[in-house]
Amino acid sequence: MKHIEANESNNDIRDESSYSRREILKMAALAGTGIVVGMSGMASLLAINNGQKVNPDPKESQSEIGNKDVIPFYGVRQAGIGTPQQMYMCFAAFDIISDNVEELKQLLKIWTYISADMTAGRALRETNGQQQVNSTPEKSTDSPAKLTITFGFGSTLFTKNGIDRFGLGTQCPDELRNIPSIPGETINSQISGGDVCIQACSSDPTVAFHVIRNLAAASIEMAVIRWIQTGFIDASDGQTPRNLFGFKDGTANIELTSEQAKENHVWVDSSNGPAWMINGTYLVARKIRMDIEKWEQTFFRKQETIFGRSKSSGASLGKNDEFDAVSMREIPSDSHVWLARSTGTKILRRSYSYFEGIDPVTGNLNAGLFFISFQQSVRKQLVPMLSLLAKHDALNPFISTISSSVFACPPGSSEGGFIGEQLFEVK
Ligand code: HEM
Repeated sequence: MKHIEANESNNDIRDESSYSRREILKMAALAGTGIVVGMSGMASLLAINNGQKVNPDPKESQSEIGNKDVIPFYGVRQAGIGTPQQMYMCFAAFDIISDNVEELKQLLKIWTYISADMTAGRALRETNGQQQVNSTPEKSTDSPAKLTITFGFGSTLFTKNGIDRFGLGTQCPDELRNIPSIPGETINSQISGGDVCIQACSSDPTVAFHVIRNLAAASIEMAVIRWIQTGFIDASDGQTPRNLFGFKDGTANIELTSEQAKENHVWVDSSNGPAWMINGTYLVARKIRMDIEKWEQTFFRKQETIFGRSKSSGASLGKNDEFDAVSMREIPSDSHVWLARSTGTKILRRSYSYFEGIDPVTGNLNAGLFFISFQQSVRKQLVPMLSLLAKHDALNPFISTISSSVFACPPGSSEGGFIGEQLFEVK
């Protein structure tokens, strides 16, 4: 693609590829905080330098916040964690290929501004009445479809192969240490880890897809996608979604409407995290394959004892209503719910089902759960649960964990700031 440079004196036409990464970064720095979205990353940055409209008008931001399809991007905490779960997810892990801390900051700024624009539905605007800001004309609506974009940092952002390339090594939270290996699981490192993760969730799957595509395009030789996972949930309005084994999944989750519960179990505060993580949280993502063919051959009643809940109502065995209190005496002690509950810790689950066709070797469905949980402390809350489930869960013969990743999701940002900025302010 040719890009016409706004240098009218010589009417020079320069191919995008002739710009070096450093030139582009310099342009971004000169352009300050604004950025347009959607064109290839390079064209976006060039557009900024050309003085086209790039910065959201605060008045527009206000009216967009009144739109029910807009979930505000800016805030004390990142959206996509304690906000209601949308039906579709596209989750990507990136490896940063630069080793310059200023470039890393610049990339985070670019990603932040683009994300703020996309979540506000500004993606389909035109620039200068000429140039389409968004390269996704296949979307006929400019609704952001409840889009949330959530960022997290992996341990390798701090130290990789023993090298502290950004000088951030001492800021690595202890919580980012890998989850101890759990007996019986085989983790594929190609679909695990990553320096930065981006979780895009929306009520429209193509919106989530284009977000990851746009952010990847804007990363201009500074980051490469390591892996991507898409997912969906079945969410009839107001109902608990069912997972691919047909059971309601999320009944006893942390109540999203309870700020207190989230304070207690999800958000990092001064008592339990490095200062730059206050109001952030830790994300664990685990791809868990589910053997649906084997499950189908398992009697209905047996399935219920495996979870400890009724398949149709979702009620704890021995109870009638989905939300009746669980009676530990009435459910088997190797059931999933009995074990998950008996550790006494709580996590915020925000998982998505996945379906990726047929396994070419076995002919079985390649499907399962992309388990995502958010917690103040991975070691104190999740690890005890994982260890206990790994030893005794009656569900184990039907599932296998094939990926595992931990990310530190920093607090949210405000207009003019950028995601993760607190990390770089640490003296
Ligand atoms: C494919 C894997 C999994 C499936 C199909 C699954 C499914 C379920 C279902 C159906 C429930 C009962 C309904 C509910 O309260 O949400 C449940 C509860 C729960 N699960 Fe899982 N789960 C899986 C993996 C995990 C993992 C890896 C963890 C964490 C280590 C976990 C933690 C929990 C917790 C904390 C509860 C709530 C227990 C309670 O307080 O009653 N699950 N899960």
